Amino acid sequence: MSIRAVICGTGHSVPEKILTNDDLSQMVDTNDEWITQRTGIRERRICSSEESCSTLSIQAAKEAIASSGIPPQEIDLVVLATVTGDYVFPATASLVQSEVGAVNAGAFDVQAACAGFIYSLSVAEAMIKAGTIRTALVLGVDTLSKFVDWTDRSTCVLFGDAAGAVVVRGETDTDRGVIKTVLLSDGTGAPHIKMEVGGSKHPFQDVKSRGLGDYIYMNGAEVYRFAVNAMGDACCKCLEEAGMDVSEVDLFVPHQANLRIIQSAAKRLGLADEKVFVNVDRYGNTSAGSIPLGLYEAEKSGRLKRGDVVMTVGFGAGLVWGANVIRW
Ligand code: ACO
Repeated sequence: MSIRAVICGTGHSVPEKILTNDDLSQMVDTNDEWITQRTGIRERRICSSEESCSTLSIQAAKEAIASSGIPPQEIDLVVLATVTGDYVFPATASLVQSEVGAVNAGAFDVQAACAGFIYSLSVAEAMIKAGTIRTALVLGVDTLSKFVDWTDRSTCVLFGDAAGAVVVRGETDTDRGVIKTVLLSDGTGAPHIKMEVGGSKHPFQDVKSRGLGDYIYMNGAEVYRFAVNAMGDACCKCLEEAGMDVSEVDLFVPHQANLRIIQSAAKRLGLADEKVFVNVDRYGNTSAGSIPLGLYEAEKSGRLKRGDVVMTVGFGAGLVWGANVIRW
């Protein structure tokens, strides 16, 4: 009998501090009209100095576990997608594992930028289907505000901080769960979005290298061009491999980077506005946090109900991209 990886709990966490477009216009040469028209973003959440990837993750994880009704001791794996973990090592997943009482779980981080949640969910799903584990806590979390150059108007207006979490459990005799996933990468696009310092090529102690890129660097136009095509391509491939038609999709929860990118992907797929989930106006681009936060909000607001087909799609630094089709 085939096993399906069913999402049975969701959680989230966002910092309390709100940074509006008007606030940003006091910091750099920008204005609400430019940001709203080019990106759809109106405000974003920003971590305090006490908050970090792990603090947001732990809150989101606890909420997801409580909503699943599954005791934390029954979790076999914690897999956390982030590019902004608390440390280079240890993995933030291990910090979450101990704090939530998942005493029988293994734990590791996955790095796939804004597509991170799709990648981490696919790892958990594959291990559940293989019978290696039964229950996983899967997170997507980023705190890019800590890595943004707050004097660079071309990047600092785009990003915010957030965490989303789901509990996934293997079930038989169900048509719910992850139906299909596609994962894609094109490393020739690596120069278009990067954070260089802190890795083994430009370690922190090599002070001379710091001028190379202490902060996020992004070629926005290049990423935009890539994203518009990649989102549509990944969704079409995922649906085709699932043997499904776009008309079967009840809700589209894309990575929230830019409203214009979301709208052009939805148009290419022929999805009506009411099937497209958008919260980029309130949170900006929260990288790996974006898709699980969207799933959480869609469920809580009643837009995503048990049995619905939801399609997620993400893209980001790597370049990487991917999509899931899930029956909720
Ligand atoms: N306020 C006012 N003007 C600005 C701002 C700002 N915040 N930022 C840039 N401008 C100016 C530019 O300097 C430029 O001026 P110029 O014509 O005098 O040179 C002008 O606005 C137009 O700039 P463009 O870069 O052409 O603007 P565009 O319409 O392409 O929008 C944007 C820029 C929003 C960054 C867009 O390219 C984009 O969304 N790209 C995708 C980003 C993305 O999705 N990243 C996701 C990956 S993140 C990850 O993986 C972690």
